[in-house]
Amino acid sequence: MISIYQNKEKLKWIIVAIALLIGLFSLFYTNSLVQHLADREKKQINLFASALEFVVTSASDEELNFVFTEIIHTELSVPCIVTDDKGEPIHWRNIDVSPNLSAEEENKLLLNRIEKMKEVYEPIEMDLGPDFKQYIYYDNSEAILQLRYFSYMQITGIAILSVLAYFVFSSTRRAEQNRVWVGLAKETAHQLGTPISSLMAWIEFFKADENFDQTIIPELTKDLQRLEMITARFSSIGSEPSLVEENVLEAVENIVSYLQKRVSTKVKFSITPKIDHDMMAKINIPLFEWIIENICKNAVDAMSGVGKIDIYLRNSKDHRFLYIDISDTGKGIPKSKIKSIFQPGFTTKKRGWGLGLTLVKRIVENYHRGKIFVLKSEIDVGTTFRISIPKD
Ligand SMILES: Nc1ncnc2c1ncn2[C@@H]1O[C@H](COP(=O)(O)OP(=O)(O)OP(=O)(O)O)[C@@H](O)[C@H]1O
Ligand SMILES: [Mg+2]
Repeated sequence: MISIYQNKEKLKWIIVAIALLIGLFSLFYTNSLVQHLADREKKQINLFASALEFVVTSASDEELNFVFTEIIHTELSVPCIVTDDKGEPIHWRNIDVSPNLSAEEENKLLLNRIEKMKEVYEPIEMDLGPDFKQYIYYDNSEAILQLRYFSYMQITGIAILSVLAYFVFSSTRRAEQNRVWVGLAKETAHQLGTPISSLMAWIEFFKADENFDQTIIPELTKDLQRLEMITARFSSIGSEPSLVEENVLEAVENIVSYLQKRVSTKVKFSITPKIDHDMMAKINIPLFEWIIENICKNAVDAMSGVGKIDIYLRNSKDHRFLYIDISDTGKGIPKSKIKSIFQPGFTTKKRGWGLGLTLVKRIVENYHRGKIFVLKSEIDVGTTFRISIPKD
């Protein structure tokens, strides 16, 4: 039973790891691609610079023609601005300059752009003769910028999609589980109805029969009451239960006196209310008893029939919640298991279904708008569960 949950937990982490790996790989791959392209563009712009230098300083007519057509006029995707030695722009390529701009505006735009380019790459100096220098400022091409953003967009995309998928899957699964629970509970309550009324009739019949051993009747009646209680619990689960302002202390005392008779005498129960606090809260008695019974049964199992179960009742500081702390002196719950114990099917017992705490959590949260959690647990010392129920 445990293994389903351990495997599911593992699977979740494997998927997270794979998503992370894909993301990192894509980031790494795009980055190396960007690096590669940037290197090529750098070479291209350097070639462009050398070509310009060559044209001005030493080319023959024939060479000039070659350099112009093959190098300077070729497809250069890198944005670049050539300036004189005072930093004034002379000509430029791949810069978006609107033809509607005045000469002054155009100059301002180019100078601005030069400032930005300086931050990315050092300009290339061209030696065009004695005291005649020009500079090429340049930047990464649009394609590289887009590629760089693309990898981050991709990672964000993967992350958003994973979170979305997680919520969609877990909420549909939860809704489905809910329907199964409620349906099963309703059906069980319904099915139990008929034999119970028949048993009632039988008890009346035996009461009237003088030959029947009448000392058995109270025992039979008690068992029947127990069956009725179980039916009441199931039918409360299957329908919207009514919450009524009740004295929780009394409810706890009732169920504990019932349990005390049914477990080993070596298990001692104690109930400690804070005397000055009122113990009222809105609960549904059959369901509330089910909560306490399940937790106490687990406690008894955890201490193999010998030990103490202490129940403390008190209000939260702001008096909005009633706390019911149930402590046992059992074997404790390992830290790594604390999250799993409320999941259906998780059990460490030979004959366990692993449903007790799932049901308890459901009753506390869904039907009483409360909370239940492990307040503390220590191996071989004991465990304390806290139930917190709104007082109104
Ligand atoms: N008080 C406790 N001390 C130690 N372990 C506990 C305690 N309460 C619960 N557990 C652990 O949590 C597991 C799940 O409890 P849960 O009540 O959901 O199922 P179960 O008791 O195993 O089976 P059942 O469906 O019959 O209740 C238990 O098997 C046990 O390992
Ligand atoms: Mg249990």
